[in-house]
Amino acid sequence: MRKNIIAGNWKMHHTLKETEDFFEKYSSELNQANNEIIIFPPYTSLLTSSQLSKETSIKIGAQNMHYEESGAYTGEISSDMLLNIGITHVLIGHSERRKYYNETNDSVNLKVIKALEKNMIPIVCIGENEIQREQGKTNDILKEQIFDGLKNISANFSRIIIAYEPLWAIGTGNTATAEQAEDACMNIRNYLFELFGDIASSTCILYGGSVKAANIQSLMAMENIDGVLVGGASLGEEFVQIAQYNLN
Ligand code: PGA
Repeated sequence: MRKNIIAGNWKMHHTLKETEDFFEKYSSELNQANNEIIIFPPYTSLLTSSQLSKETSIKIGAQNMHYEESGAYTGEISSDMLLNIGITHVLIGHSERRKYYNETNDSVNLKVIKALEKNMIPIVCIGENEIQREQGKTNDILKEQIFDGLKNISANFSRIIIAYEPLWAIGTGNTATAEQAEDACMNIRNYLFELFGDIASSTCILYGGSVKAANIQSLMAMENIDGVLVGGASLGEEFVQIAQYNLN
């Protein structure tokens, strides 16, 4: 059985005070949602978020981590540092990391391997840009990101979550139609079958890119979309509406 997952990626938003306000206002409503809720705050808010969500079912994840245990990597954070403050999930290979910070399928691969070794849950982000879609290369890009990003993984594959986030839909207000998103997520599942066999039927695949309260229902109605990764609309009240989309 695949879970319904509603994840919020705060990116570089929310100071500590704003984080405290968020949890004070919304954590009990988020806790009532019928779905698994995961929030990805910036590093400075991780510990507080982890503490403030302790009595709830809300999970907290980091937006990135390094693949080495420790060392001379200025500005980086290790898996042990995250685990030590109760962080169980980590976003890997978000398109903004790929675009601005040189993240490649190879570094994604090393990070996924490290996360699995540490019993963390990696949410691996993949997706094509506008030109690649126009040129009909979407499936090639997704296949390459999966085959290269998830190579040399055998044990524990079942813990990986995939987020399909077409770059042209992120932060643009241009959500993919539910059919476009379903089509890509179905192809992703087929590539996962090729790589890992039947276990791919239980992999959670999320859609991300301008998800809002207005389009959550149509996205979640799709067979191969098990959840969403929400950016802009995860920062305040709208996230509660999205999280509770199936609450009567
Ligand atoms: P958006 O971001 O919802 O603001 O488009 C999604 C993401 O980047 O994960």
